[in-house]
Amino acid sequence: MESPLRSRAGTLITISIIAWTLAVVHQGFSPQTVSGDQGLTHIALDCNPAELSTAEAQQCEMRRRLEGQRLFEQETFGGNGRTCLTCHPVETGTLSPEDVQARLVADPDDPLFRHDGLDDGVAGTWRILQHATVRVTLPLPAHLTLLDDPNATHVTFNRGVLTTLNTPALDPALMSDLRAADLKVQAVGAIRDHAQNGVEPTELQLELIAEFQASNRFFSNGHLRKFAETGIPPQLPLGETESEKRGRLFFIDAPFDPPSKVGVCGLCHSGPMLNRTNQFAPMIASVPGAAMESAGVSEANFIGNPVRTFLVHDGLGDPIPVTTPDIGVLMSNPATTPFSAIPPTFLLPRFGLRLAFFANFFKTPTLWGVKDTAPYFHDNSAKDFDQMLQQYDFLFLNHRVIQGQIVLTEQDKEDIKAFLKLL
Ligand code: HEC
Ligand code: HEC
Repeated sequence: MESPLRSRAGTLITISIIAWTLAVVHQGFSPQTVSGDQGLTHIALDCNPAELSTAEAQQCEMRRRLEGQRLFEQETFGGNGRTCLTCHPVETGTLSPEDVQARLVADPDDPLFRHDGLDDGVAGTWRILQHATVRVTLPLPAHLTLLDDPNATHVTFNRGVLTTLNTPALDPALMSDLRAADLKVQAVGAIRDHAQNGVEPTELQLELIAEFQASNRFFSNGHLRKFAETGIPPQLPLGETESEKRGRLFFIDAPFDPPSKVGVCGLCHSGPMLNRTNQFAPMIASVPGAAMESAGVSEANFIGNPVRTFLVHDGLGDPIPVTTPDIGVLMSNPATTPFSAIPPTFLLPRFGLRLAFFANFFKTPTLWGVKDTAPYFHDNSAKDFDQMLQQYDFLFLNHRVIQGQIVLTEQDKEDIKAFLKLL
């Protein structure tokens, strides 16, 4: 029998050879340069390519990428056996109910079926099999209390796994409630909350995980990778069929002018990543460039998640009660949230708003690659494009301004679906 040590050494050698070959093939520089410079193994993981010679910089990048991949795919940090890969598989970066069902059949001990994967955090796989959601428990920020439990410090929501495709490199707004300021804060949260770690990650490890998530395999197509590398934004595909071309019209930047439906999706899905409101957003009482909105998902609560009544305190009057399964961006803390989250309270009177206005607002996700990342919305309530569009029937009927002035026909829906498949 081969000793485990020997086979590990064998694997390491194989990995080094693959890494080395990749370095040569990808960077297209001469093998002599590398083989002539055996001393490069001294390069430490905290190396900075910008300060190194070409050969050393390539070695540095390769070492960091391999360690980032190991941390993402294999490192459990002494926790419950989960890694990032447990919930963010390579192909889609997310989990669908079909994925979860196949995983349970293949291995009932899969670390997915632990802790926040279980119905009440202790037992039961009904919810995750049905909806592929995970329990996300968060501290209540100072501006929120629960009506039925005023001393509660935390609250739990059922949320879908957001895909790790495209976002890490290209969208600074993280998590469906925008609570994470950057990828390092996000990773440390995942390691503590999902993996229940025994060992804390180091700063360098967090940096390597973040860096790895910006590497090639995390882009849904070459245009997005090019955008990350060069800043040249991807363009909306023109479409070939009549249906695709009609579908595209929903996403161009155009004034809100009902009953015309041109640009109706683009009001919120604009900019290079199709995840920011556009210049016409004020016509539906939103602000241009916002990374969050409400698509009416919590309001509709189509999958019947349990609801709570939150009191939203803003110091501008009596607290406002909001009954909802998930209050969204109001869970973020104005003191620590990034640029695009809720405004500081002192600015609200200027816009005639109360803080509760932002209840049930969520991060607007990018639509690039969306055909491969079902289910949709923060609660995974839409399992496919048809259910996603039923949500928009609800939104357009109940929206504060739209109020039924836009009605999607069956043909419109076919056209939108045809276009989304091109992204
Ligand atoms: C138990 C499953 C699980 C594990 C394990 C897990 N995640 Fe996640 N991840 C989620 C869920 C659920 C969300 C969305 C949470 C929310 O919106 O509140 C998420 C969100 C993210 C996002 C934000 C994407 C966006 O669009 O904003 C990134 C990035 C991410 N995870 C990376 C990681 C990394 C890195 C690790 C490992 C250190 C990891 N995840 C481990 C379930 C998981
Ligand atoms: C008022 C702003 C707004 C408009 C208009 C809008 N969306 Fe959205 N969209 C959002 C927000 C916000 C989300 C995330 C909602 C959530 O998770 O609760 C979202 C999510 C989505 C998703 C799910 C993406 C994912 O990865 O889960 C799809 C697909 C989508 N929108 C397509 C469309 C289409 C098609 C239209 C036009 C018919 C449209 N949107 C119009 C704001 C909007």
